[in-house]
Amino acid sequence: MEILLKGLLRLEYRGYDSAGEMRRLVSTHCLRRSVCMLIKQQDMDMDVEFDVHLGIAHTRWATHGAPSPVNSHPQRSDKSNEFIVIHNGIITNYKDLQKFLESKGYEFESETDTETIAKLVKYMYDNRESEDLSFATLVERVTQQLEGAFVLVFKSVHYPGEAVGTRRGGPLLIGVKSDHKLSTDHIPILYRSCKLLDKKGCPTLPRMEQDTCHTLFAEEKKSVEYYFASDASAVIEHTNRVIFLEDDDVAAVTAGRLTIHRIKRTAGDHPARAIQTLQMELQQIMKGNYSSFMQKEIFEQPESVVNTMRGRVNFNDNTVTLGGLKDHIKEIQRCRRLILIACGTSYHAGVATRQVLEELTELPVMVELASDFLDRNTPVFRDDVCFFISQSGETADSLMALRYCKERGALTVGVTNTVGSSISRETDCGVHINAGPEIGVASTKAYTSQFVALIMFALLMCDDRISMQPRRREIIQGLRVLPDLIKEVLSLDDEIQRLAAELYQQKSVLIMGRGYHYATCLEGALKIKEITYMHSEGILAGELKHGPLALVDKLMPVIMIIMRDHTYTKCQNALQQVVARAGRPIVICDKDDYETAKSSSRTIKVPHCVDCLQGILSVIPLQLLSFHLAVLRGFDVDCPRNLAKSVTVE
Ligand code: G6P
Repeated sequence: MEILLKGLLRLEYRGYDSAGEMRRLVSTHCLRRSVCMLIKQQDMDMDVEFDVHLGIAHTRWATHGAPSPVNSHPQRSDKSNEFIVIHNGIITNYKDLQKFLESKGYEFESETDTETIAKLVKYMYDNRESEDLSFATLVERVTQQLEGAFVLVFKSVHYPGEAVGTRRGGPLLIGVKSDHKLSTDHIPILYRSCKLLDKKGCPTLPRMEQDTCHTLFAEEKKSVEYYFASDASAVIEHTNRVIFLEDDDVAAVTAGRLTIHRIKRTAGDHPARAIQTLQMELQQIMKGNYSSFMQKEIFEQPESVVNTMRGRVNFNDNTVTLGGLKDHIKEIQRCRRLILIACGTSYHAGVATRQVLEELTELPVMVELASDFLDRNTPVFRDDVCFFISQSGETADSLMALRYCKERGALTVGVTNTVGSSISRETDCGVHINAGPEIGVASTKAYTSQFVALIMFALLMCDDRISMQPRRREIIQGLRVLPDLIKEVLSLDDEIQRLAAELYQQKSVLIMGRGYHYATCLEGALKIKEITYMHSEGILAGELKHGPLALVDKLMPVIMIIMRDHTYTKCQNALQQVVARAGRPIVICDKDDYETAKSSSRTIKVPHCVDCLQGILSVIPLQLLSFHLAVLRGFDVDCPRNLAKSVTVE
């Protein structure tokens, strides 16, 4: 029980509307479901003893059906819980399945798409043609009827001591814990049938007998524990050895043995799944002395940006190496266009670095929101290079856009923070930002590390261009001092807390800037929206006169970002336009900018840095401000209402 509940706690940041858990109690199932923060209420009877060693639990971000006990997972086949299932994702054909099952007499109790899966598995079990149908085969048959995206784990009274997990379009990993050295570092795939050759004639492996695959962990079986999870943070306190499943893998754990099945082998399939060792440590996913993960992550930034650059930027000879791109960099240098595709904060990292990418690569650079990019059926060509920026590496919109670009023959590059994530595996090459696990739903350190990673890429793209060398040196030396400058900005925390105390009862905040700082405005406004529930808008200062100026009066809080770069004079104009409408702007500016200070009602002074990196220093005061505003307004900073850290549905 404790393992399940702790696992849920660690995953809670991914979605926390409601939760449920289930384990087998002698021969019946015992199911508990609850809404909102079940785990925090500690309302589970931890001291009850069970004779079983298998349980499943789920924490939910509602897609179909409001957060309520009956909509929580596990969903069940019937009142006696013959089959139960937990599910991440969306089943798009659930209405058809529901209609079919209703015609067979099934009665639905929830509003979820997931319940159709629980009922379908029972229907297929009850109508099986042979008595010795394995649980894995049954699940495989069920998933063949499902459309959409899913990660599923099943349990059943008909298969005691057995759990079956499978995925399509979402992450699922298996933690493997053993006190002994494992006799293998990979699990061969068991193909269901060698008769199903693929169309290209790729040879499938000969059919493996059940016993052969069962011997995989036979000698270790007494000492091996398996953990299915959608994220490594749920299992890391038990083991750092994990297997990342691929789409349509069906993994079954029976009496301490693990088998992985697929229906057939297709071209390009790897016939085994490696057991990988993760570098993550438990301490990284604990809050330590901070009041929230978000606060911890904001204050980690001097180190997280160093980790992004570690072993990659050489400050002595001004060189940059990115191991993950080395086999493809020549091809990337020959491309016609760069397209950066992402969602949320990761999109803002693309907006923030677009200008320097255009400058250093001399290529057209498009920055796209993944959902809109797909809605438009955007033309993509073979000589495009498409970047997918994603902290989690699992965001469904970004993943779909990745597959769209791959189909059109573009080279794909991942910029993710999660080793083994779908985006990092499905892209042709990529850069891990190495910021360490980010738990707070509002992204902070991942943003600054994505920013640094994209700058490093821009530097790499022009490393042999003589004319670019002075600019490259300037930026690389800027990266060298960046961690210390971030520390200096973080020392403004008390001052920003005082500012928050003046603002927290306001309804709205406008944030204005331009050039390198437009992204800061968007990102600052997103942070405020996400965790304080105040209305906030990031406004391009150049557009001020075309509409947003109408919002300005003496009551409206306005934050302006004015730095000494090529937009300085134009920003001064915007400042004067705001002041002339009785606005009382709070300005984030260079620490020696006395002129700006004269026209501002208040200033937040940050150290000066090379122009294209200054956005890292201008966003941190807004991260801190949103944090303090949320605390003062009494909200849970790490778990904002209605949101989830990783959105694995389109
Ligand atoms: C969710 C999160 C955001 C995040 C966005 C993209 O909406 O709440 O904080 O920026 O997804 O996530 P990704 O993992 O792809 O960077």
